Amino acid sequence: MAFKQEFFTLNNGNKIPAIAVIGTGTRWFKTEETDATFSQQLVDELKVALTLPGIVHIDAAEIYRTYPEVAAALRESNRPRDEIFITDKYSTQLKLSDDPIAGLNISLKTLGLDYVDLYLLHSPFIKNGSTLEECWKQMEKLYKSGKAKNIGVSNFRVEDLEKILKIATIKPQINQIEFNAALQNQSPGIVKFCKENNIQLEAYTPLGPFQRIQDTPEAKPFYDYIAELSKKYNKTEAQILLRWVTKRGILPVTTSSKPQRLHDAQNLFSFDLESSEVDKITELGLKLKATRLYWNDQYDKYNVDSQKI
Ligand SMILES: NC(=O)c1ccc[n+]([C@@H]2O[C@H](COP(=O)([O-])OP(=O)(O)OC[C@H]3O[C@@H](n4cnc5c(N)ncnc54)[C@H](OP(=O)(O)O)[C@@H]3O)[C@@H](O)[C@H]2O)c1
Repeated sequence: MAFKQEFFTLNNGNKIPAIAVIGTGTRWFKTEETDATFSQQLVDELKVALTLPGIVHIDAAEIYRTYPEVAAALRESNRPRDEIFITDKYSTQLKLSDDPIAGLNISLKTLGLDYVDLYLLHSPFIKNGSTLEECWKQMEKLYKSGKAKNIGVSNFRVEDLEKILKIATIKPQINQIEFNAALQNQSPGIVKFCKENNIQLEAYTPLGPFQRIQDTPEAKPFYDYIAELSKKYNKTEAQILLRWVTKRGILPVTTSSKPQRLHDAQNLFSFDLESSEVDKITELGLKLKATRLYWNDQYDKYNVDSQKI
């Protein structure tokens, strides 16, 4: 079957590949205290992703400390720049560079690029001594300079977005949040707010229910139904979950160390789910226990509301 790719259209009219197939956080995330050595394995996995058809969407960030691997893979793959979509993020929790402008200049230099396709503020918890509003003004400058083709945020709540929208001349194109069937609102009302304000949502941990399998009677109908759809469409259970995310109008940011799973993710649009199936996954998912894998210190307080839409 011919390869088919889908895109979302952002509020500035730009298009974005509707799935990011390789995130460079997850198990590649390095800290100074643990292992900050160069990972040839990550380079090899990125190079596999860069052989996939279509535009290959890579998710990177300053805090992951994996720019050297991304740079090596880009250099060695020789893939044309316009067939790659690169997301990068300014580290907010840990001050690794002075501000977003300094951060992106360093990352472009390290990655050997003139621009990134998308630059995000990694969280609303800014620890560089400036305010959220000041950081957003810097993001707008990066957008106007062409160094970031699109700009956005990550892990933002409604109240954080409201602060930015008050002063923005360029609205965030993206809010990248934790989202999956077992966590359908990272923070209260965030999915509805972004949809109403034309801010495209991205979902990291889209495979959350498989990363933490829930072995309870309440969860069984959900897993049974995913298995049923997997059989019906002859697609993996992970593909069913990722496709469900896209059918909710949200862009999944997934990753894998396995070439076949990277291939499956990039080939996500070779099948479709019926709207009744999308709704049923949503409903059965809401019966799962809220499971949050990231930003627990800040957001566990929202767990009671995270399985409400
Ligand atoms: N903005 C933020 O704060 C933030 C936070 C977290 C993550 N992220 C970004 O999002 C990316 C993806 O996050 P994620 O890793 O949580 O995404 P995910 O797609 O939910 O999970 C990917 C993980 O699931 C495993 N997996 C893949 N298929 C599977 C299957 N069928 N059954 C069981 N496990 C399966 C993969 O392992 P294998 O390697 O074995 O396939 C991989 O370790 C990160 O790399 C990072 O770039 C952003």
